[in-house]
Amino acid sequence: MKIEQLFNVKGRAVIVTGGASGIGLGYAEVLAANGARVTLLDIDEHRIEAEVNRLRAAGMEVNGRVADVTDHTGLDRAINQAVSDYGRLDVMFANAGIDPGPGYVGAWVGDERPRLTEGAIESYTDNRWNRVIDVNLNGIFATARAAARHMRPQGSGRIVITTSAASQRVEPAIGAAYMAAKAGAAHFMRSLALELAFYQITVNAVAPGMFVTNIGGGHSKDPAVQRALASVIPLHRVGFPKDIGGLALLLASDAGSYITGQEIVIDGGLCLGRVD
Ligand SMILES: NC(=O)c1ccc[n+]([C@@H]2O[C@H](COP(=O)([O-])OP(=O)(O)OC[C@H]3O[C@@H](n4cnc5c(N)ncnc54)[C@H](O)[C@@H]3O)[C@@H](O)[C@H]2O)c1
Repeated sequence: MKIEQLFNVKGRAVIVTGGASGIGLGYAEVLAANGARVTLLDIDEHRIEAEVNRLRAAGMEVNGRVADVTDHTGLDRAINQAVSDYGRLDVMFANAGIDPGPGYVGAWVGDERPRLTEGAIESYTDNRWNRVIDVNLNGIFATARAAARHMRPQGSGRIVITTSAASQRVEPAIGAAYMAAKAGAAHFMRSLALELAFYQITVNAVAPGMFVTNIGGGHSKDPAVQRALASVIPLHRVGFPKDIGGLALLLASDAGSYITGQEIVIDGGLCLGRVD
């Protein structure tokens, strides 16, 4: 089969939560650039407007909808509207997520990694814990549930959950709730993949390593931070949203139709360990 056919996403109706920035925008942009009809669903109204205008100006078929993944009634409503805009739902990227704040050490890399009391388990507040679980785990559940309600009657669909390298490997510089939420989302993905396979719906996860986005106030945009992170990544560079494009096309197109229940790590080798 020709590559144009195998990876064809033309006309596919796609929703991306957290689609107005970073990795979600990376998914949205590569799909829309290849003819998919994409809804950016995000809590940030201004970013949605800016990105929808930018992508439409480049000739792409893109809509925006404001929704908070922690408000499940509002989320269902926004997803229903997005589905009625395009008449179906082929691919759902359950991607929206937040940074959990500091972990129990104060630096990502280096020999000096001082312990922080703020991120230590004894002082980890209920508020911090619950907020991260609410967005990064409960939000994924509610998004996937809404997708399944539309996909099951169609007898087709793709659900792609953004987890993290943190679901497989503990990162002490980011808070413990993030580890729990991402590992929970990864195993939820497997449970859902088994449940929905009968209906020809695949469910997979993308687990990014260190990507430059707006998460946590965009701290990874600092070149010094990027250099430090690159030093512990075997490919010796951080990831950018455009690096996610190939995987997005694979999982959204016929090329990925027999892949389900998998968490695909995309991290420049970070999870392998360190050699030089
Ligand atoms: N950047 C990384 O290095 C990295 C690594 C591993 C995993 N991830 C995961 O990738 C996903 C995307 O993060 P990113 O790095 O692109 O960050 P980002 O901040 O650039 O984008 C996240 C988007 O989600 C939106 N969002 C946040 N809370 C929301 C809510 N309650 N409802 C709806 N939208 C909401 C934000 O407005 C933003 O547009 C997250 O799940 C994150 O945990 C990121």
